[in-house]
Amino acid sequence: MYDRSKTNNQKLLNWLDEVIALCKPKDVRWADGSEEEWKELCEGMVESGSMIRLNEEKRPNSYLVRSDPRDVARVEDQTFICSDQEVDAGPTNNWEDPAVMKARMNELYDGCMSGRTMYIVPFSMGPIGSPISHIGVEISDSPYVVVNMRIMTRMGSAALAALGPDDDFVPCMHSVGKPLAEGEQDVPWPCNPDNILITHFPTDRLIMSYGSGYGGNALLGKKCFALRIASCMARDQGWMAEHMLILGVEDPQGERFYLGAAFPSACGKTNMAMLIPPAEMEGWKVWTVGDDIAWIKPDADGKPRAINPEAGFFGVAPCTSYKTNPNAMESLRANSLFTNVALTDDGDVWWEDMTDEPPAHLIDWKGRDWTPDSDEPAAHPNARFTAPAGQCPAIDPAWEDPAGVPIKAFIFGGRRVADVPLIYQAKDWEHGIYVGATMGSATTAAASGEVGKLRRDPMAMLPFIGYNVGDYFSHWFKMGESLSEHPAIFQVNWFRLDEDGKFLWPGFGQNMRVLRWIIERVRGQVGADESAL
Ligand code: GTP
Ligand code: SPV
Ligand code: MN
Repeated sequence: MYDRSKTNNQKLLNWLDEVIALCKPKDVRWADGSEEEWKELCEGMVESGSMIRLNEEKRPNSYLVRSDPRDVARVEDQTFICSDQEVDAGPTNNWEDPAVMKARMNELYDGCMSGRTMYIVPFSMGPIGSPISHIGVEISDSPYVVVNMRIMTRMGSAALAALGPDDDFVPCMHSVGKPLAEGEQDVPWPCNPDNILITHFPTDRLIMSYGSGYGGNALLGKKCFALRIASCMARDQGWMAEHMLILGVEDPQGERFYLGAAFPSACGKTNMAMLIPPAEMEGWKVWTVGDDIAWIKPDADGKPRAINPEAGFFGVAPCTSYKTNPNAMESLRANSLFTNVALTDDGDVWWEDMTDEPPAHLIDWKGRDWTPDSDEPAAHPNARFTAPAGQCPAIDPAWEDPAGVPIKAFIFGGRRVADVPLIYQAKDWEHGIYVGATMGSATTAAASGEVGKLRRDPMAMLPFIGYNVGDYFSHWFKMGESLSEHPAIFQVNWFRLDEDGKFLWPGFGQNMRVLRWIIERVRGQVGADESAL
């Protein structure tokens, strides 16, 4: 049924035999990650009505997809950590017994791909061959997932070739959960919104996802692997998997300083990772390494080095503009995918605040006519672009360095309308852990549920820690013992409001002033007062 000669990895072959027998797809295809495959899959989705090809002049080689309105974000209440013991999932995760959950998932998977093609998607999180990288293989019945994975990871033949006969990998099983009966007409966005389950098995380092085709629910290399499973691997192996952007700041003397910053979902990581300093700060420059996830490992001398395990940006579209984030706008100018944004009359994309004046007419994310008088936004608040990181004009020359970049500081930040000041520094590593552990932030549209409600979000990892949050804090303390050099730790808040409900701080490029202070503090160039905080 499938070409078994592509790999000699016995664990992979055994797993494939098993899942094919279970899911009963119409056919099975290896994803090779080639340009031809991208074209073929995208054009196939255009033909079937799942995708819209954008204007080739305005947005070359790019496509728009509209999801089912019931499948628009991560679903935290349907996300499970199935550790052997309940206590190992801890108070912040949903838990189910692994045997019980596997039985439930296998029931859902039984025949779930009938009438559909199963894609085998080998991928590497991190540059192929880096000692910090890890391989995964995603099984999916969604061609949308395959083309997204091609942007977000090093996907295809090269990743498969890197997997030796005895090498381990993380099996990532995904189905949209919508089998097609003989002759049944497919829908543009197949999903099974009433039965979504995103499940993780830390002991087996296995992921099983069912029912959703959206973002972190379906692109399993991202949150499921690179954060939830990787955080368990990191705990066991003495490194860190964090919900952090990585950036390099170059000072006017040309010296570069790297840091990681943890903000919750849709709180400004992409913006900060691509920051352009204001004109009055001539000579300063920000280089982008990653916008969402950092894997941080001690080098031979015990100094922390970080890689971005991803190869693309899955960024929040609304509010992204040439004013707020020109580097993101340049990154997505071609070879990109757009999900749940609006379509302009000339075949390009638009979303809220992309331009000062909205276009007079659009097709909104639900496929309906839209004008500036419409009551609803034209793009969904969690509409996303998928863009290759290499297209970012500020991408750091070292972003694919297999050794990673040296990390000198960590920043924690969230959406706090009051109380938390613009910037302060923790006294030391231990105090920094306290600052990160007690972080709070207003919820956003990145996850389903109420928006704007203050919740605790330790280290911006609340939805992503694959084990007991108490053990996670212990792990930070243990890292403190094993690192020979400790990144300085800071907290920032761009979101404080004045009495009129307006932001007190202009943010965006102006955040460079805060970055400069951080660097000067780490270098011992400026003093600071110890305060009651
Ligand atoms: P995920 O991809 O969901 O993990 O999130 P992210 O942290 O990368 O989110 P992103 O950078 O896309 O956040 C976008 C939101 O943050 C938008 O609502 C922006 O307006 C807001 N934002 C980003 N930077 C600033 C800032 O400096 N000030 C203010 N007020 N808002 C900001
Ligand atoms: C987040 O929600 O933190 C994201 C988007 O980065 S998703 O990949 O959908 O989880
Ligand atoms: Mn994120």
